[in-house]
Amino acid sequence: MSQFLPDYIVTYLPDAIQLIYLIATAFFIRGLKLLGSPATARKGNQLAATGMLIGIIVTLFDQQIVSFEWIIAGVLIGSLIGIILAKKVAMTAMPELVAVFNGFGGGASALVAWGELSKFADPSVMGNSSLVTTGLSIFIGSLTLTGSFVAFGKLKGFISGNAITFPGLNFINIASMIGVVVLIGVFTYDPANQTVFWIILSLSLLIGITSVIPIGGADMPVVISLLNSYSGLAASMAGFVLGNNLLIVSGALVGAAGLILTQIMCKAMNRSLFNVVFGSFGGDSSSGQVSGSDGDKTVRETSATDLAIQVAYASKVVIVPGYGLAVAQAQHIIKEVATKLEERGVQVKYGIHPVAGRMPGHMNVLLAEADVPYDQLYDMDQINPEFASTDVVLVIGANDVVNPMAKTSPGSPIYGMPILNVDEAKRTIVFKRSLSFGYAGIDNPLFYTEKNQMFFGDAKKSLQALNEALNDV
Ligand code: TAP
Repeated sequence: MSQFLPDYIVTYLPDAIQLIYLIATAFFIRGLKLLGSPATARKGNQLAATGMLIGIIVTLFDQQIVSFEWIIAGVLIGSLIGIILAKKVAMTAMPELVAVFNGFGGGASALVAWGELSKFADPSVMGNSSLVTTGLSIFIGSLTLTGSFVAFGKLKGFISGNAITFPGLNFINIASMIGVVVLIGVFTYDPANQTVFWIILSLSLLIGITSVIPIGGADMPVVISLLNSYSGLAASMAGFVLGNNLLIVSGALVGAAGLILTQIMCKAMNRSLFNVVFGSFGGDSSSGQVSGSDGDKTVRETSATDLAIQVAYASKVVIVPGYGLAVAQAQHIIKEVATKLEERGVQVKYGIHPVAGRMPGHMNVLLAEADVPYDQLYDMDQINPEFASTDVVLVIGANDVVNPMAKTSPGSPIYGMPILNVDEAKRTIVFKRSLSFGYAGIDNPLFYTEKNQMFFGDAKKSLQALNEALNDV
């Protein structure tokens, strides 16, 4: 586009571009900071998107990049697809969408590096550092592409959510990764060697598949967060290949943010990243597993009318939302119930576990959608000391995050995971459809305690019934 500009502007253009890239980076960093709180997250998202738009527009003036018509076409088509997807996707399907975005991000970085490489008849003129980053970008980008699509397939159910593995697969994966790194060294030494290039590309694509396929579908959110980090790394490497500072910085930001998120998720589940990637846990996340009503275990059931009396005459009620609330889309009706209780003078708070649902911040986003005031949302450390003074806890479609086995059963897969201590409250009511297990695939002793009552049924329908029953109390 710079051919349309006067000469005196063209002279200063490279410096101006770098300066504007710096401004775009500031937008990204400020945007990320604002994403840290539900109250400012929208603004953060808008700021980061503005930074990206600035980056794209400035790139139009960068002579190194292919014709701007292509870029504008890409922006328009990409924006259209993005708008349609963002409007259509259900909140529970967000991890799948992120998986696809990561996959395309990784694939794009690999293609950029490959495109840069193919510009040169003799690639050795690129220099060693560019050749290394080209190799790394193709490696990380390609494995992110195939790995993300396997994760997408597992979440969607196209591919079995169970861990598909055989003895020695982890060893083969690690050996292949080391092999690719060695081959990148060979490629740097002899970049004209097409065979080495194709082996790197094919092996990287294969590693993406073989390293995600042995991980259980239930662990996909953590894997997706990790792949998100990889897609950032691949972009950063592509930035080095192109000598584009904005791409280096934005890729590094995505890489670091994805890794931090992965760590937060692992910590909140009390699992190591090694255990997620190389262990097997949970299984098919689309479970509708066996009922826990075996043996002499009995549960007490409640009805909408009975429950309406209990909550209407309580002085403090804590609502604990979980994955089932998202599935049932019960966020609006729970807000209506809470408002009715508040009008009667009941103190209502929401206790949010860091990994309730299937993605970080899942519950916060859902409740924000229903305009639940942020000051009623309490995170685990804030709400736990309050359960002992709570009359009724409404556990809506949550299971693992309130499972006392995390504290009492050293053999259980969730042992050591911090939980919401709802068992300390005077009464708990669990809203779910059956006694099926949650994500971790284990029974929950909370259901069988004297203080607990089950309200069986779809969370939305049960809450609608409670809402109506409250009118008659
Ligand atoms: P879960 O333990 O998965 O339990 C959800 C419960 O919701 C199920 O027991 C299910 O029981 C119920 N349910 C499903 N559909 C329902 C509906 N329409 N109406 C009412 N209930 C319904 O959920 P949680 O307590 O939120 O825990 C989250 C789990 O996901 C944790 O183990 C966590 O480690 C894991 N995880 C979370 C993340 C993030 S970042 N959030 C990432 C990876 C893994 P019924 O089938 O009987 O109804």
